[in-house]
Amino acid sequence: MVTVVVGTQWGDEGKGKVIDYLAKGCDIVARYQGGANAGHTVITNNKKHIFHLIPSGILYPDKICILGNGVVIDPAALLCEISNLEKEGVKLSKRFFISENAHLTLPYHKLLDQIEDKKRGRRKLGTTGRGIGTSYTDKYARLGIRVVDFLNEKVFREKLKISLKLKNYLLKKYYEEKVYNLEKISREYQTYRKKIKGYVIDTSLYLNQALRKKKNILAEGAQGTFLDIDFGTYPYVTASNPIAGGACTGLGIGPTKIDRVIGVAKAYTTRVGRGPFPTEFKDEFGEKLRKLGNEFGATTGRPRRCGWFDAVLVKQAGIVNGLNSLAITKLDVLNSLGKIKIAVGYRYRGRKIGQFPNSFEVFSHCEPIYEELPGWKRELSGIKKYGDLPKESKNYLKRIEELTQVKISLISIGPGREDTILL
Ligand code: IMP
Repeated sequence: MVTVVVGTQWGDEGKGKVIDYLAKGCDIVARYQGGANAGHTVITNNKKHIFHLIPSGILYPDKICILGNGVVIDPAALLCEISNLEKEGVKLSKRFFISENAHLTLPYHKLLDQIEDKKRGRRKLGTTGRGIGTSYTDKYARLGIRVVDFLNEKVFREKLKISLKLKNYLLKKYYEEKVYNLEKISREYQTYRKKIKGYVIDTSLYLNQALRKKKNILAEGAQGTFLDIDFGTYPYVTASNPIAGGACTGLGIGPTKIDRVIGVAKAYTTRVGRGPFPTEFKDEFGEKLRKLGNEFGATTGRPRRCGWFDAVLVKQAGIVNGLNSLAITKLDVLNSLGKIKIAVGYRYRGRKIGQFPNSFEVFSHCEPIYEELPGWKRELSGIKKYGDLPKESKNYLKRIEELTQVKISLISIGPGREDTILL
């Protein structure tokens, strides 16, 4: 059985916690896109773990974790994460695997990502600077270096030489920046090769064999629907497909093998980086919610922009992902509020819009139309059953279901595994 977990907003929906919770009942957790731009936070026994590349399921000693072909892998970042986990006593041997077909993020990808974004000036995207867009650009330009190429020193050197010729020309002549040395990178990556080699397999084959053995697979999406390169708020998006369809291409699993898709939505909305955000708080209330929800990026530490729940967005996410259900996270962050708003549509130049507009020009000028609901003004901690939630919070959740046309299957009321209500 394959379950796909996707973000329904702009990332940071709390997927790390939901995946950690669902991983309990799974055999394999596999990531299908993105790279070290992700920051999945899991809290176990009062200890905070932040994952950038390795699936958060790794904290269960009996789970297999996979980085699929759709992920772009920065060996330096990966090894740093592996070493941190090993220091904490987490064993990865024979249960962590990397796809041969995944592409590498190399040092020049990171530098170019940072300088290209800076050069955009007021059109800056606010990328994480982790070399994501530049790695995928090389992949699609047929210039990328895959893990399987990296394992063969000769092939790696040849490919690196070709890439460096182009990148160094660009860096020196156009950006007037430092250039990279083939020998230096080769030497550094020789050490990485030795450490990574043992984890590399044909992950698509592995996953399909596991399915034949009736294993349960959790496909972990990073970022979110509105950061998707095809369905997001283009050009303010990431360079991959976080939507559920990305799980097929990013893992090498056929669409007929996907059994369910769970969308994760925060009880309000946040966004890191630039781009339109109709329900964003423009006053000090944004600051208040940021503090209440501790809304600071897990990867870059940047303060997240905060706003009300946007039902238009999550409804659209339900459509493009084919969601079976929703997991609502951070409901407890709204505990102290007297009134809570939900965007039920937009107003664009006097006209009402009930659907997410693909035009960037339209979306960036949309004013939200709100519905207001009473808050519950009560702590939720310790509540284990849906029936025990305050009436107002149940009304809020019901309204989310009605507006998004997706049923809620899980509610998170705190950071710990125990702060979860299953419906
Ligand atoms: P990139 O993925 O680094 O190219 O950044 C493109 C956009 O996606 C920027 O607005 C980032 O802030 C955003 N982004 C990338 N990864 C994440 C994530 O894991 N959570 C939230 N936003 C992200």
